[in-house]
Amino acid sequence: MRAVQITETGGPEVMTVVDLPTPEPGPGQVRIAVAAAGLNFIDTYFRSGVYPGSLPMGLGRECAGTVTAVGDGVAGLSVGDRVVTAGTTASYAEECLAPAVQVFTLPDGLDLDVAAASALQGLTAHYLVRSTFPLAEGHRCLIHAGAGGVGGLLIQMAKMIGAEVFTTVGTAEKAAIARGHGADHVINYRETDFAEAVRAELGDAPGLDVVYDGVGADTFDGSLSVLRPRGMMALFGGSSGQVPPFDLQRLNAGGSLFVTRPSLFHYMDPPEGQQRVDELYGWIVDGELDVPIGGRYPLAEAADAHRALEGRLTTGKILILP
Ligand SMILES: NC(=O)c1ccc[n+]([C@@H]2O[C@H](COP(=O)([O-])OP(=O)(O)OC[C@H]3O[C@@H](n4cnc5c(N)ncnc54)[C@H](OP(=O)(O)O)[C@@H]3O)[C@@H](O)[C@H]2O)c1
Repeated sequence: MRAVQITETGGPEVMTVVDLPTPEPGPGQVRIAVAAAGLNFIDTYFRSGVYPGSLPMGLGRECAGTVTAVGDGVAGLSVGDRVVTAGTTASYAEECLAPAVQVFTLPDGLDLDVAAASALQGLTAHYLVRSTFPLAEGHRCLIHAGAGGVGGLLIQMAKMIGAEVFTTVGTAEKAAIARGHGADHVINYRETDFAEAVRAELGDAPGLDVVYDGVGADTFDGSLSVLRPRGMMALFGGSSGQVPPFDLQRLNAGGSLFVTRPSLFHYMDPPEGQQRVDELYGWIVDGELDVPIGGRYPLAEAADAHRALEGRLTTGKILILP
């Protein structure tokens, strides 16, 4: 089978398409024929070496497709099932393996492209608004990169819940996309300081209940400065770079603030994972949540997909189609 592999870490040019033996599932694993793999920022961290991995290494954390083999001890999944997972490590391939506990069957009528496009980013947005800081009607939140994958889904979920949404974007085109998702206040941070803009909109209000920040290094300080006393900073990524160590006394000075650095992996244990999947895909099937697909790349052009994501040229979800 054809698969993307890297034998050294580095830029997108280290990604090559190779022929590999079709993998056999071990105990507790299933094999999936990949219909579509989703591109995520984390894939670039593994490719570049920001996150460690052993070489040679496949890429891709999520996909949707059809089960083609099940390993010993797997219950509840069969060959032919239409499934989604955000628990694989090599989905840029014709077939991949995943732990059965992180493979979920899909409701009828859900397109496999849409399922692949919403797994990792959709489940991330879901745990952030449901579990990390459970949003409620009337809460005020700031969501960075509001035209991006996680950001766009976060905005839609926050509006479904009834929160007031501030968001940042880097271009006028992205501002229109974020408004389309339902954001109440859209700030182009290239034209204005986003923290000043949020404070101006807030007027006498005490500050925001929560910031969902996946941009990291460039936005962390400003994000802390717009929280209300005892507000929550949910730092879930570092698209602009990782946040350097900082003085915890700043949390005191900012008003007994909370900071968390959550990861999807810690929010998917049974039975929570299945409940999350059921609610997320229920919203999508019911048409309450739109999953914009911003581009489709064949396996051989996966490196171009990485260049586009890192070059901030993408909106919505990028799929890699083996
Ligand atoms: N912790 C978790 O569980 C978890 C799970 C999934 C994803 N994540 C994280 O969530 C973040 C968003 O992921 P995504 O896949 O949805 O990506 P994305 O938001 O679709 O793309 C990244 C966006 O970040 C903004 N950005 C700001 N500064 C940037 C810079 N220096 N370089 C590149 N982009 C920059 C850009 O939007 P503008 O041009 O509008 O600024 C860009 O389009 C990533 O940091 C990812 O690692 C975390």
